[in-house]
Amino acid sequence: MAASISLLVVLAALALSSASSFAFPHGHGGGPPAFLFPQFYDHSCPKAQQIVKSIVAKAVAKEARMAASLVRLHFHDCFVKGCDASVLLDSSGTIVSEKNSLPNRNSLRGFEVIDEIKAALEKECPHTVSCADIVTLAARDSTSLVGGPYWEVPLGRRDSLGASIQGSNNNIPAPNNTFQTILTKFKLKGLNIVDLVALSGSHTIGLSRCTSFRQRLYNQTGNGLPDFTLDAGYAAALRTRCPRSGGDQNLFPLDFVSPTKFDNFYFKNLIAKKGLLSSDEILFTSNPVTEKLVELYAANNELFFEHFAQSMVKMGNITPLTGNHGEIRTNCRKVNHP
Ligand code: HEM
Repeated sequence: MAASISLLVVLAALALSSASSFAFPHGHGGGPPAFLFPQFYDHSCPKAQQIVKSIVAKAVAKEARMAASLVRLHFHDCFVKGCDASVLLDSSGTIVSEKNSLPNRNSLRGFEVIDEIKAALEKECPHTVSCADIVTLAARDSTSLVGGPYWEVPLGRRDSLGASIQGSNNNIPAPNNTFQTILTKFKLKGLNIVDLVALSGSHTIGLSRCTSFRQRLYNQTGNGLPDFTLDAGYAAALRTRCPRSGGDQNLFPLDFVSPTKFDNFYFKNLIAKKGLLSSDEILFTSNPVTEKLVELYAANNELFFEHFAQSMVKMGNITPLTGNHGEIRTNCRKVNHP
């Protein structure tokens, strides 16, 4: 009897200790944990996810495009020094802001929404929720708010102490890069060819400037002819508002069928030669594996959603700062101790 009671006590203690170690995983030496997990703020800031979602929902209700802008912000954060909110830093002191890089200047947006979320979270639980996690959650909430999939976000990223404009210029693929260059840039971040196609599917929402695809309309390969992989009628329509010169900032939907809805029309458009960017259309025209994936996603929205969610988690896990690395910024635009 006594033996069985003591066995019970030991089992209960084991269950409790494993439960508590699940709830609060610690790093070596009892510091903050060195890995990401979805329950990271469950005790330190239980309302964190609710607050992020409500402010993103308000912003997207005001302007549907904001969902796209917040998804892209996460991509441009993660491809430079990992998902560490380096993209949010303004220039000051030794910091040269990534906001002025070629891919970001006059293009990347959503910073004010992140500021608003950060201010609300600093009020609710000061010095607790990182800007990098805010960007990651905002990308997930944006996706699901406009009809895309929902997924659990591993959390616990910390914020960088610096930025890299070189990284921003070099690591983020450009719309006129070759297929091989784009795939290489993904592989350098630990992402594969499936991630490339699934994540490009986020071009089912949002807008592009004329300057990002003009070359395709007039002189794709230097022979004075439009890109032959672009539908002629679609190209003619684009030329009316994207002239040979001028109108650089004019905006066009990346998915002309359903520009504010997260769906698989992006892939259907590629098959119809109506992808807007060269980097979009080449997924269907330059490689047999990506061609097959485009066909699969065009035929099967569920599969696209499943792969998109998986690949977003993968992208969100690119070299995060954890444990005692980095910091929790109080203002996402600057480091705490410049
Ligand atoms: C595969 C390589 C990629 C290239 C070359 C590329 C390039 C671009 C370009 C040129 C624009 C338009 C920017 C402008 O003209 O202002 C754009 C917009 C956008 N990109 Fe990508 N992108 C790529 C991958 C991704 C990925 C992986 C994501 C997210 C997971 C993403 C999300 C978006 C979104 C949502 C927009 C619309 C943003 C808005 O309306 O504010 N892109 N991209």
